[in-house]
Formats: sequence, structure tokens, C-alpha cells
Amino acid sequence: MPEADVNREEKNFYENIKMKTPGFFLKGSNSLDWGMKNRLARIFDPGTGRTVMLAIDHGYFQGPTTGLERIDLNIVPLIPYADALMLTRGILRTTIPPSSGKAVVMRASGGPSILKELSNEEIAVDMEDAIRMNVSAVAIQVFIGGEYETRSVHNMTRLVDAGLRYGIPVLAVTAVGKDMVRDAKYFRLACRICAELGAHFVKTYYIPEGFETVTASCPVPVVMAGGKKISVLDALTMAYNAIQQGAAGVDMGRNIFQSDAPIAMIKAVRSVVHKNMKPAEAYELYKSLSKRKKGK
Ligand code: R5P
Repeated sequence: MPEADVNREEKNFYENIKMKTPGFFLKGSNSLDWGMKNRLARIFDPGTGRTVMLAIDHGYFQGPTTGLERIDLNIVPLIPYADALMLTRGILRTTIPPSSGKAVVMRASGGPSILKELSNEEIAVDMEDAIRMNVSAVAIQVFIGGEYETRSVHNMTRLVDAGLRYGIPVLAVTAVGKDMVRDAKYFRLACRICAELGAHFVKTYYIPEGFETVTASCPVPVVMAGGKKISVLDALTMAYNAIQQGAAGVDMGRNIFQSDAPIAMIKAVRSVVHKNMKPAEAYELYKSLSKRKKGK
């Protein structure tokens, strides 16, 4: 039995202080349910509103990618420096220590390998299994303009419906066909379609001209995709520009794990993303951290 209530004078109702109804730090996420916001706040640092996601899901269509041959040896040491890991359930269960405590963004689409038409994907993870793995979000490829455009969009909307049922956010990844033009017009179209149809955040490529129009016209957070390996300074510059032009973080793979000094690289990327460090300074940081590691 609860204690009998004490008299009115001993309680404090702070009648003069209105209860705050704060918003949420992430763009377009204010009306989501508590569980959804809580999961997004595990991916995006509430202090900066940004994220450094480490993408290691490449094997789902291209097998043991360079740098990912031995995830236990090459990637597990990087985990402490990421805000979230983007990966497949196979790698999560076989190789990632459950004690790592990092937010997981689970690759939830797949089907074709690099030998086939990539847009011909299906949903590849059941929402119940995503919950079992305690994921913070699920990720799915959307092929706007691709051969199986409608199927990929429909995969995404089905995943969004399933995610909404349980409070699991969906990351839509805008996949660009080999022959398609990568410009602001295309990415505005792709990102906006994903957000309009329910994605909670979108991953897309950086483009030097008009990226700020892509982020501005997308009503949910945009995370920059890394892309193929480029020079360290170029990768840091690209991340910096994307952040300054409205990206809420990065989801980088090859430019981190194919770097000569992956820990130094992810730390430099973190400084760019979370501290607005300029590319030249971040590059110096990378160089000094990588020298220290080699004992120079
Ligand atoms: C894209 O389709 C997948 O999510 C990739 O595995 C991931 O985005 C690749 O990351 P990065 O291009 O930075 O190596």
C-alpha cells in the first residue's frame, strides 16, 4: 500500500514554473515517439547533433572488400571511435562484441551481388530480428532512377511501416547507378523522395556544387556517404564541406578503414564533424596521430 498522502504544504508542485515542452535536437524528428527519438539520440550525439558512423556493410553485395577481410582484426579496434556502426547482421553476430555498446545501424536490404543488377533488392532483415539485435536504426538502399526504382522505394516504405510499429528509425541510402549524373538536382530528388515517404534520416553523397540545397530541401537529417578512397586531405575536406553545408554527420567506410592509419583517420573525422575543425588542421591531427602510432 502506498503511504497515506501527506498534507498539501509538504509537497512542491512548482505551480509558477511551466513544464517545458522541449523540442528535439534533430531536424524533422520532433513529432516522433520516445523510443524512436531515444534510438536516434544514440546515433546522433545530442551535444553536437551530429554523428560519425563507420560503414562496414560493403560485404553484403561485394564480399570481402579491401580493408574488411578480417573485421575482427581491422575494424573492432576502431569501434570505440565511432558513434554508430553500419553493418550486416552476419557481421554483428559473428564478429562485433556485444559489450561494445555502440549504436547499430543495421543493413536491412540485399539480394543481388556485384555480378547482377544492384537495384533488384529486397528487404533482408525482419523487424523482429532487428529488435532482437537491439539496433538503433535499420538502413535500406533506395535506387531513384534505377531499374528497380519502385521496388526499392516500396521496400523502404514497408520497412518504415514496420519500424514505426516498434519505434525503429529507418535510414534511406540513396544509391546512384553507374551511368547516372551525380548532381544537386538528382540528390535533391532522391533525398526528398526518401524523406517524403517516411525515412527518418537519409544517407547521400557529397557534391561540390549545391550540396546545401540537398540538405536544405530534405526535412530530415542528411548524413554524408564516404565513397571510394581518396586522399586523406580530400576526404577530410569533403567531410568538412558537407557538415558546413548542413549534413548532420558522415557515414564513412573506405576512407577510414582503407587509410594507412585508420584510428588516426577516424579521430580526425570526429574533429571535423563534432568540433568543426578545419580540414588543414584535421590533416595535421591525422599526421601527428599516425606518426605517434608508428613511433616516429
Ligand atoms: C552503400 O551502398 C553501402 O552502405 C556502403 O557499404 C557504404 O556506404 C560504403 O561506405 P563508403 O562508401 O564510405 O566506403
